[in-house]
Amino acid sequence: MPKEVFEQASQAILDFNNSGLSILEIGHRTPLFQAVLDEAVATAKELMHLDDEHEVLFLHGGATTQFFQVPMNLLDETETAAYLDCGVWGSKAIKEAKIFGNVEIVASSKDKNYTYIPKKFIIPDTAKYFHYTTNNTIEGTEMNFIPETNVPLVADMSSDILSTELDFNRFDLIYAGAQKNIGAAGVNMVIIKKDILGKVKRKLPGMMDYRQHIEAGSVLNTPPVFAIYVCMLTLRWLKKLGGIAAIEKINKQKSDLLYDTLDALPLFKPTVTKEDRSRMNVVFVMENPELEKKFLAVCKENEMIGVKGHRSVGGFRVSLYNALPLESVKVLTDLLKAFAASN
Ligand SMILES: Cc1ncc(COP(=O)(O)O)c(C=O)c1O
Repeated sequence: MPKEVFEQASQAILDFNNSGLSILEIGHRTPLFQAVLDEAVATAKELMHLDDEHEVLFLHGGATTQFFQVPMNLLDETETAAYLDCGVWGSKAIKEAKIFGNVEIVASSKDKNYTYIPKKFIIPDTAKYFHYTTNNTIEGTEMNFIPETNVPLVADMSSDILSTELDFNRFDLIYAGAQKNIGAAGVNMVIIKKDILGKVKRKLPGMMDYRQHIEAGSVLNTPPVFAIYVCMLTLRWLKKLGGIAAIEKINKQKSDLLYDTLDALPLFKPTVTKEDRSRMNVVFVMENPELEKKFLAVCKENEMIGVKGHRSVGGFRVSLYNALPLESVKVLTDLLKAFAASN
């Protein structure tokens, strides 16, 4: 997270906008909070150049709730949704969708432990919608194209939203847990093109019904006020920085520097096919497990936190989310080079 966001959020805990109240105690139906929500929605729309057909919501339950809320709202029992299976998170979304209807997996990269993105697949026109994960956080692959389709397009953008310019209006539904590039944990951003809703036969509990959330402007019940406030501050920070185009340049510099360094050092092996490498999550291993342990210890000594890979992949995973400065990547690449030289 950006340092200035930490500072502003800390101040708002003590006294929010000179109101004499903390952000942790203001009412969610007050003008004080409504202004926060309005700015968060307006800034998200501006940064992503969203048209008026798209609604921006802030909802609870993490991206994992969207795994079932999406099919619950869009897929009837006898209908089929198309899914791309490119990683742990996508396969969890598939499992949940199967509770509500049929799922056709149009392609999968499971055969190679999800280390690449399938390019040639056909999305049937009869599918109710097509779902994919834009960035596979655990495996370190990223889709660098938007699949062509005539059916509604749904994407889990939890780990790369706002990191690169995309035609966001091409999507009918986008969801993302806030905790990587949008703000603090505890809230989801969900972007919906309204005309895809209201077509399923099943009855929906109010909290699961996107239409009710749209009608209530994200305050159907008490929203996660503080988390939304942190999102607003982070979105404001990104706008001030120059928006998505500006952060995309920095993200490219960061990921190029790290991948180029890894490619030049035979000791370290990036696991993902070059053309599908993620700019957000860089995954690499070493052939010798003892050296992996040793490098992890070196990272710890040098205050590099959280670089251990996911248990399903092993090795290392370095996350380069929007707020991570280029300087941090330089420190890491110096460490990688020094370690390679002495081992
Ligand atoms: C791509 C992706 N989808 C879904 C999730 C699950 O998010 P949450 O923990 O907010 O439910 C994650 C979490 O890391 C993720 O990276």
